[in-house]
Amino acid sequence: MKEKLEKIREEALGRIQAARSLEELNEVRVSFLGKKGALTELLKGMKSVAPKDRPKVGQMVNEVRALLEDALEEKKAVLEDARLEEQLKKEVLDVTLPAKKNRVGHRHPNTIALEEVERIFVGMGYEVVEGPEVEKDYYNFEALNIPKDHPARDEQDTFYINDEIVLRTQTSPVQVRTMEQGKLPIRMIAPGRVFRSDEVDATHSPSFHQIEGLVIDKHITFADLKGTLAEFAKELFGEETKVKFRPHHFPFTEPSAEMDVSCFKCGGKGCRFCKGSGWIEILGCGMVHPKVLKMCDIDPEEYSGFAFGVGLERIALLKYEIDDMRLLYENDIRFLKQF
Ligand code: DAH
Repeated sequence: MKEKLEKIREEALGRIQAARSLEELNEVRVSFLGKKGALTELLKGMKSVAPKDRPKVGQMVNEVRALLEDALEEKKAVLEDARLEEQLKKEVLDVTLPAKKNRVGHRHPNTIALEEVERIFVGMGYEVVEGPEVEKDYYNFEALNIPKDHPARDEQDTFYINDEIVLRTQTSPVQVRTMEQGKLPIRMIAPGRVFRSDEVDATHSPSFHQIEGLVIDKHITFADLKGTLAEFAKELFGEETKVKFRPHHFPFTEPSAEMDVSCFKCGGKGCRFCKGSGWIEILGCGMVHPKVLKMCDIDPEEYSGFAFGVGLERIALLKYEIDDMRLLYENDIRFLKQF
């Protein structure tokens, strides 16, 4: 028994020394100390040892086991060091390489302009509401006093889903949806995406954004419309900004107008920016048509109101002096970062 033990010890120590990798070392451990390892097998043979000698032999086996475990541990540390050393040699760090930059996005000029418009109107007590982009023909046209054969339908090249459903061509249907809820008075703006079957060029896109505005209360007059929109223009383009209203036609307002602002680039003298006129067209507006009020169950004898619609891209392009709308949809971060 003793010789056998001696033999195992020598052989194991030899193989531990000779091991050249952690994997190889592990194999040595298993073959001597594992469940079916040589030392374990030897312990199973204890039955044949005389009972009085058993404690002694047991002790000897344990000593050899401890010795081998220590030797394995020591060799393992050596092999691990060597492995780390080799890895470090392979992974040379070049501190002169440029660092990896964290690419952060940027707020879109549309978003910046919209937040500015919202800030102005919320400051005047308006609520911001939303309506669906896929809209009923009824809300987009009929209820806005644009019946089936109305020529205004041709101006707004519509994407039809079917006879009754369209991609909204304007944010004006949100006016109707808000009035229908029956809560008066109303002071709201409704920003959102609109769609028209237009060819893409520097000033057109099949999908763009508008901001609708609506005020309904008792005794609302055109003077309220003018005062509100003049204040809006000043806040948006600067205190010196003047406004001018030109008569226009929209089916859902009467009277209707288009509002121009004095050119914030030249102050109204005329420049390349305002094409020499000193004025820049900015929005459509008017007093809500009595027919529209009636269709929404609001009594035009008791209530009146005004509405307006602004193109968001138009504001962003003007404010940030961008001369091609397509730049707004490319989402090139180098472009967006300028605003
Ligand atoms: N919806 C009109 C358009 O897309 C813009 C507009 C004009 C909205 C007059 C209004 C308004 O609310 O009163 O051309």
